[in-house]
Amino acid sequence: MEQIRDIMRTMEYGPAPEANEEVSAWLKARAAGIGHFIGGKFIASGKERFATVNPATEAELARVVQGSEAEVDAAVKAARGAFAKWSKLPGHERARYLYAIARHIQKRERFFAVLESMDNGKPIRETRDIDIPLVARHFYHHAGWAEMVESEFEGFSPVGVCGQIIPWNFPLLMLAWKIAPALAAGNTVVLKPAEQTPLTATAFAEICEEVGLPAGVVNIVHGDGRTGAAICAHEDIDKIAFTGSTEVGRIIREAIAGSGKKLSLELGGKSPFIVFEDADLDGAVEGVVDAIWFNQGEVCCAGSRILVQEGVAERFYDKLRRRMETLRVGNPLDKGIDVGAVVSAEQLQRVSALVKQGEEEGCTLWRAPGVLPERGYFFSPSFFTEVDPASTVCGVEIFGPVAVAMTFRTPEEAAELANNTRYGLAASIWSENINLALDAAAKVKAGVVWVNCTNMLDAGSGFGGYRESGFGREGAREGLYEYFVSDVEKALKPAKEAEIFIPRGAPEEERRFAGLSRIDRTAKNYVGGKQSRPDGGYSYDVLGKGGAVIGQAPLGNRKDIRNAVEAAAKAGGWGGVTAHNRAQVLYYVGENLDARREEFEALLSESTGQSAKAASAEFDVALRRIFYYAAQADKYDGAVHATKSRHVTLAMNEPWGVMGIVAPEEAPFAAFVSLVLPAIAMGNRVVAVSSTRHPLLATNLYQIFDTSDVPGGVVNIVTGEKDVLAKTLAEHDEVAAMWYFGGKKGSAMVERASCGNLKATWVSDGRARDWLDDRQARGREFLRRATQVKNIWVPYGE
Ligand code: NAI
Ligand code: MG
Repeated sequence: MEQIRDIMRTMEYGPAPEANEEVSAWLKARAAGIGHFIGGKFIASGKERFATVNPATEAELARVVQGSEAEVDAAVKAARGAFAKWSKLPGHERARYLYAIARHIQKRERFFAVLESMDNGKPIRETRDIDIPLVARHFYHHAGWAEMVESEFEGFSPVGVCGQIIPWNFPLLMLAWKIAPALAAGNTVVLKPAEQTPLTATAFAEICEEVGLPAGVVNIVHGDGRTGAAICAHEDIDKIAFTGSTEVGRIIREAIAGSGKKLSLELGGKSPFIVFEDADLDGAVEGVVDAIWFNQGEVCCAGSRILVQEGVAERFYDKLRRRMETLRVGNPLDKGIDVGAVVSAEQLQRVSALVKQGEEEGCTLWRAPGVLPERGYFFSPSFFTEVDPASTVCGVEIFGPVAVAMTFRTPEEAAELANNTRYGLAASIWSENINLALDAAAKVKAGVVWVNCTNMLDAGSGFGGYRESGFGREGAREGLYEYFVSDVEKALKPAKEAEIFIPRGAPEEERRFAGLSRIDRTAKNYVGGKQSRPDGGYSYDVLGKGGAVIGQAPLGNRKDIRNAVEAAAKAGGWGGVTAHNRAQVLYYVGENLDARREEFEALLSESTGQSAKAASAEFDVALRRIFYYAAQADKYDGAVHATKSRHVTLAMNEPWGVMGIVAPEEAPFAAFVSLVLPAIAMGNRVVAVSSTRHPLLATNLYQIFDTSDVPGGVVNIVTGEKDVLAKTLAEHDEVAAMWYFGGKKGSAMVERASCGNLKATWVSDGRARDWLDDRQARGREFLRRATQVKNIWVPYGE
């Protein structure tokens, strides 16, 4: 007799489609065309239109107007017009709007879930249980921030008009991630949805209307990459927030370099999913399902590289293959479906081509056995084994339901493999050994780490990438900073464009021969804890008071910068010592500097021509800054966020790694110290370019660093022509973040040159800062800029 168990096993599922009459009626009412939402009005003008289709049926859902420069301009004007009033509203008033938006979304949850599923192809189960609830949660959470911005973000103001460009994989959720924090902080926005999925953004605009959001606070302009480019190019936009491919992120970084626009980028990933041999393998298998087959694998933080410890690999793959057999692919509106349709024919083509390439390169492909629907852009859940880490499918973000699987032997090898990528968005780590798991979490270079879980998202946690996965965070306090500018920065005025000082170099030998080196003050670069002669063998005259030659400094070149970066890269241990130890070293630096006060004050006076009193004042500022950052070294710490129940969600302030710092010409001693100290206090290693005119103050510091137990390579100093050295630093792949204090042109150059590895930059844009004023040149903002937040999720309970 058949057992019930057997019947259950062989029973066919009946279809359980979600009703979509309401959405059909909504679409029918908009059959004339979906318009932009500008200044509180729906505008469907413009000749060019494009269709949005249901990827599961290939049927056209609606025709949408393509925004041109004119519509972008109108939207920016509307946003600018609304900004004055909106930004001045008490936080409480803005909170009420955000709260109302959240409530309205909740009221129409089902409608949004169906519309999103139809436009994107993702299963209703996911839009209903994940996308839309998270959207509401995001608005509630940020309604709370709006309530408190005045007190929680004292000294910060909204940036202004924000241009926001989002992708198609989580259309409404990405909109919420962009709009909620922007509005909470007091900004107004021009948002462009992805051309593949414009519909829920339009329904959202209707909610803005319903809740009576003041016209122009939210503007939605539809269109493809051309419209996005027009937003980036618009002169009256103050900030760009982008989520999408790394390729377009790079284009945007380059396009707005030098414009003074603030930028946050949330880009692609190839995130590791690490399974240690002591992991709960069944749990980890479910993890893979959520990591790479959730949302058809169209997830920037998808666990697309499965790394399994050798001893359990075959067993794990077996379990995975068995689980794959039970995945149901099909009609996204069917409540029993696990995997829906890929967003577009183009994306399906992209995924298919990459999978074919993987097979051609010799990887073994495992595909879920089920039959796919005849129509629609479906792709079976898959994974590759026998992959070479150098193969295409191992390096490229596939952005479909396809993972690659590799094995490792030791935890060290796991970390190495995990970090063997240009990306750094997320990581998922599976082990029953908390020590092992947290050690791996610390070692992996990723902005979000999930321990024994995956793809956990919440408004209360930050989200964002390391490396080429972008910079800036979304969610939580760390994300809100992206929508603020400090009042100090806002008030900075353009500096008198300093005349560009191009030192004339001469070989040292020649100099000595001509008797030019009478003054025995020939500084050297400081690289890897050693004094080092400039690679080119050239030095330049350093002029002091009245134009007198007071010494020589190395005319550093590219090679010097590369050597310094290499030395800094090797000094990675600095980030691993305790904050207490770093603090002790910095206190020691302060003490040793204090002991040589007279010498430094005299040199300052001699270099800059300032009075003894002024030199003494600058020295004092520098000295106090050292003590300040020594004090902060173990106090600028992170947070535990309140996210989902039974999870500890950490926000750790991690150092970037190797930072490039280019010091300004003004206050050559105080400024140099004010920039280098916060960076090393947080555990970074620094390659610092001193003031070009007054390099001797910086180069003399080497003796202080040497005698204060600063490990070699933690601070490296190169002198010479500032912008030449800055360019090499900005282009260098090992440099993770770059601060540049100099002219407007140099700032633009640094931003442009940073595109290669998409390093985070902080540039002065040619504005002057008073380096002697604590309010302008010291504080937590420097520490925030010297760190990136890593969010680690650790569940607890059985
Ligand atoms: P995409 O990066 O081109 O599109 C994202 C958004 O940027 C869309 O709104 C698009 O209209 C806009 N855009 C395109 N070109 C632009 C430009 N020059 N200036 C300003 N905005 C521009 O991504 P696409 O083409 O849809 O997908 C290609 C690949 O990108 C995917 O296969 C996937 O690997 C990756 N991707 C990653 C996402 C992520 O969340 N990390 C999201 C979407 C795609
Ligand atoms: Mg569509």
